[in-house]
Amino acid sequence: MNKQIIRAGALALCIVAVAACTRADSPASGDAALPLPPDVHSYAKPDEARVTHVSLDLTPDFATKRISGSARLSIEKSADADSVILDIRDLDVTRVTDAAGRPLGFAVGASREFMGAPLAVALPATGDTIVVEYSTSPEAAAVQWLAPSQTAGGKLPFMFTQGQAILTRTWVPTQDGPGIRQTYDAIVRVPPGMRAVMSAEHSDAEPDKDENGLSVFRFRMPHAIPPYLIALAVGDIAFRAIGANTGVYAEPSVVERAASEFAEVDEMIDAAAKLYGPYRWGRYDILVLPPAFPFGGMENPMLTFATPTILAGDRSLVSLVAHELAHSWSGNLVTNATWDDFWLNEGFTSYIEYRIMEELRGKPYADMLRQLGRQDMLAAVDELGTAQVADTRLRLDLAGRNPDDGVTDIAYEKGAAFLLTIESVTGRDRLDKFLRQYFDEFAFKPMSSERLVAYMRQHLLTEEEEERINVKEWIFEPGIPVNIAPVQSAAFAAVEAKVDAWRSGAGASTLEVGEWSTQEWLHFLRSLPDTMSRDRMADLDRTFGLSTSGNSEILFAWFRKTIANRYEPAFPALERFLLSQGRRKFVAPLFADLAATPWGKPMAMNIYRRARPTYHSVSTGTIDKTLGWPSGGSPAP
Ligand code: BES
Ligand code: ZN
Repeated sequence: MNKQIIRAGALALCIVAVAACTRADSPASGDAALPLPPDVHSYAKPDEARVTHVSLDLTPDFATKRISGSARLSIEKSADADSVILDIRDLDVTRVTDAAGRPLGFAVGASREFMGAPLAVALPATGDTIVVEYSTSPEAAAVQWLAPSQTAGGKLPFMFTQGQAILTRTWVPTQDGPGIRQTYDAIVRVPPGMRAVMSAEHSDAEPDKDENGLSVFRFRMPHAIPPYLIALAVGDIAFRAIGANTGVYAEPSVVERAASEFAEVDEMIDAAAKLYGPYRWGRYDILVLPPAFPFGGMENPMLTFATPTILAGDRSLVSLVAHELAHSWSGNLVTNATWDDFWLNEGFTSYIEYRIMEELRGKPYADMLRQLGRQDMLAAVDELGTAQVADTRLRLDLAGRNPDDGVTDIAYEKGAAFLLTIESVTGRDRLDKFLRQYFDEFAFKPMSSERLVAYMRQHLLTEEEEERINVKEWIFEPGIPVNIAPVQSAAFAAVEAKVDAWRSGAGASTLEVGEWSTQEWLHFLRSLPDTMSRDRMADLDRTFGLSTSGNSEILFAWFRKTIANRYEPAFPALERFLLSQGRRKFVAPLFADLAATPWGKPMAMNIYRRARPTYHSVSTGTIDKTLGWPSGGSPAP
């Protein structure tokens, strides 16, 4: 028996003992430097051996739906560490070596649902590098492979990855916790005629060809980022500049439209930098993906990924870009140490999103966004009900659960409301100064709720203010504290007057709605009564062309009402909507609404059977549960 196998045996034992319990990072300096909570969603033990750099050489293969290649990892280890533990899920690891290609022992532990498995690797006697050779599974949860028919061009296939929260481990073998920051570089080999883009710097030169005739794209991310921000997309991707350091990537037939929709992006960056300190990432580009992309946006550094459903043609949905850009401070610079503190990413970001839009479009506009956000928050509280009331806390307890379960509007909107409530006590100037200092002090570091509270105590709030705000209740207790700062939109008050007129019988055409913004339309639609007659629905639809709207948010708000009232004339348009894009925020609630009625359930199942193969795992994961669809299969007839 050779030495390697013996070492692998010892490693197998060590895996059994892996308690998924690691400090996300060593504390920063100062009194606010409290120890960070353990990350229960990673097997890694970064205090013993930590990945500091990932160097990828990958070839995505559209025919087999696999990415294969290698990940060369730089490891920083404590004196007595003899192994390093990585997170992997559904990866086929074929070989692990040191930098010189000498095999290293490795062992894969038991796999758990959504967590994947620990991969323990014996550290080399010399050097701090290990090389993992592997390929991904066609079912890798992060990766979606799109047929040409799912693209705008219809000719070439497309693929993209989505790492947040814990999906990076399905395509990169590394330590996959948000507190374990890593720099990265990559070589990506793609078929000629296609382009690869990543959340990193790249050279503008034409790609080289490798020995197999593949185009070789090279990337480098010099800042240490959490691994959920490593991202890749490959397809027929064109580029169009907006400003000197900004631009859009999209399929050729989409790129012009996208560039004009996002023309304000430089203004957004300037506004954010003026408020919160310099933009530290170099370029800021936006990749518009095919409609299967499961999110509105994803804040991949230097390259936000975005759904095409925000291309409304009138720039009415670009607050989503402000949101993803805001993550360049909250989330990408200062990062939730664990997914229990997801609100530190999303709540701060939503608050900043509204501040950026206020700079661009003025306070009345931002107040509409804030008030829609409040409605979303209250709907989330309602939906969580009493059973999951604990999930109305900002700081969550996701132990034993998929961190995706923590993704609700509580993190976004209760989080943003908390900061607005602080603002109402301290005034804007003090809060802005504090936030600049916070991003500066904790740049490229993990953050926890406890650390934030300590830092606020030191640098923002007097004892009396902390009590007046009720900081602890806001963060650690369920429900919405009574001192929440109010939000009032005058424009929405005017919309409500129209709703009242309509309720008391006025025909839609007599309302004289004039030039409403998308946000006013959304407020109008959401404020309509739950129960409406078929004639009155038809009156709305005929007068305002709701079922044929080109605005995805308006369509979504309208379709919810059409399902609540079983307004069948709108159902062909609803079906087209569900079959033409896979954004979870739209498709999951619509399927849930349908499935909640006896007449709608068969319709939901029938549409989902056709839609499901076109959706990303993030969306099917949610909808499968709602519809009782067996994951990976089709339901009994
Ligand atoms: N980071 C999130 C997307 C995300 C959250 C991915 C949790 C995986 C797990 C992104 O910044 C986001 O919040 N997107 C929103 C848009 C935003 C304007 C609220 C979305 O996709 O709808
Ligand atoms: Zn976000």
